[in-house]
Amino acid sequence: MTGLLDAVEALATPHGLDRYLELVNPMWTVRELRAEVECVHRSTDDSITLTLRPTRQWQGFRAGQFVNVSVDIDGVRRTRCYSPACSQHRRDGRIEITVKAHPQGLVSQYLHAHARRGMVLGLSQADGAFALPSPRPSRVLLVSGGSGITPVLSMLRTLVDEHYDGEIVFLHYAFDEQHVAHLDDLRALDAAHDNVRVVLAYTEQQLGGDLHGLFGHAHLAEAAPWHRDAETYLCGPAPLMQAVREHYDGLGIGHRLHSEDFAPAPLAPLPAQDATGDVTFTRSGTSATNDGGTLLEQAEAAGLRPEFGCRMGICFSCTQVKSSGCTRNVRTGETNSDPDVEVQLCINVPVGDVALDL
Ligand SMILES: Cc1cc2nc3c(=O)[nH]c(=O)nc-3n(C[C@H](O)[C@H](O)[C@H](O)COP(=O)(O)OP(=O)(O)OC[C@H]3O[C@@H](n4cnc5c(N)ncnc54)[C@H](O)[C@@H]3O)c2cc1C
Ligand code: FES
Repeated sequence: MTGLLDAVEALATPHGLDRYLELVNPMWTVRELRAEVECVHRSTDDSITLTLRPTRQWQGFRAGQFVNVSVDIDGVRRTRCYSPACSQHRRDGRIEITVKAHPQGLVSQYLHAHARRGMVLGLSQADGAFALPSPRPSRVLLVSGGSGITPVLSMLRTLVDEHYDGEIVFLHYAFDEQHVAHLDDLRALDAAHDNVRVVLAYTEQQLGGDLHGLFGHAHLAEAAPWHRDAETYLCGPAPLMQAVREHYDGLGIGHRLHSEDFAPAPLAPLPAQDATGDVTFTRSGTSATNDGGTLLEQAEAAGLRPEFGCRMGICFSCTQVKSSGCTRNVRTGETNSDPDVEVQLCINVPVGDVALDL
């Protein structure tokens, strides 16, 4: 069968069979993984929950992982990472993502405004190391804030589906009750399972909720006094992540804290003496003086609009071919002087003259 498909694909060159099939039905694909929006739900004003039906290539995910979701906006394909919020054991094979509409955010605002039943999106297989371990820990603390609820809600739902009998505390931070996505489901899970406790902390609402104000030692003492002996999974805005990390490091239990960042941490700047030479974008016929920023930032500053997703080196949607020159990976410090190799624009800076096929 694969041989036959390869032969038909060869005949369909240069566009590939999927380009022709999508003219008939975009969910008929040979190679590409895609997903159809089956349901659109708005549990808060600034977020949207999409139930997606993936094509047959979908291989499933582990609670906590993310997928790349692509959508065409004004004729340009845009890709962003989203963490499924549903259980990894969902029986109907659907996945559910919840997208918070960022002010001025391109993809999240587009989905918030335009996502509808029947819309077809690009999808990647799941990826990421933020996931529940096997065997499951005996006690689990899940801490989230804002849109960071998704991967840890997936963990909670997965554990419940597995009839996990250890203790679970789900500590979630939001401005107020109106900003808690999946609030009804959280309440239902809390009520239905003796070993599950949902603790809602409101930072801007004094009444209602279980805790108030910003994260601190007192919140953990109240919500999960046993957290030193548990495994903790954390996802949320940078200040919450930093406060929780400092708390765990202070107790010497940083190894028990597992976390996922939705936004890139500031990258280490390039030593000034390395910011020399020019960056040439050969396909566009443009070049610019190397300013020490990432290749992605320098391409954008030159007026180009290369594809990107996470801007932190995990989704690979910014990968382009470097024709020549030396680049430094700002996450690992490694340099690469090989010609005609793929580089991730968002985490590589030029060291001297660099030419990109862009
Ligand atoms: C592993 C992972 C999992 C994720 N899971 C989820 C999830 O489940 N749910 C979810 O809602 N999000 C999730 N995200 C975040 C998501 O991928 C997107 O980053 C988010 O939706 C914003 O995308 P956008 O296109 O709307 O915003 P973008 O257009 O990419 O902008 C992002 C932010 O930067 C600002 N911005 C844009 N351009 C500039 C500029 N030139 N200068 C300064 N600021 C600028 C915008 O105002 C906006 O606030 C996840 C991210 C990662 C890495
Ligand atoms: S934008 Fe995700 S790896 Fe570069």
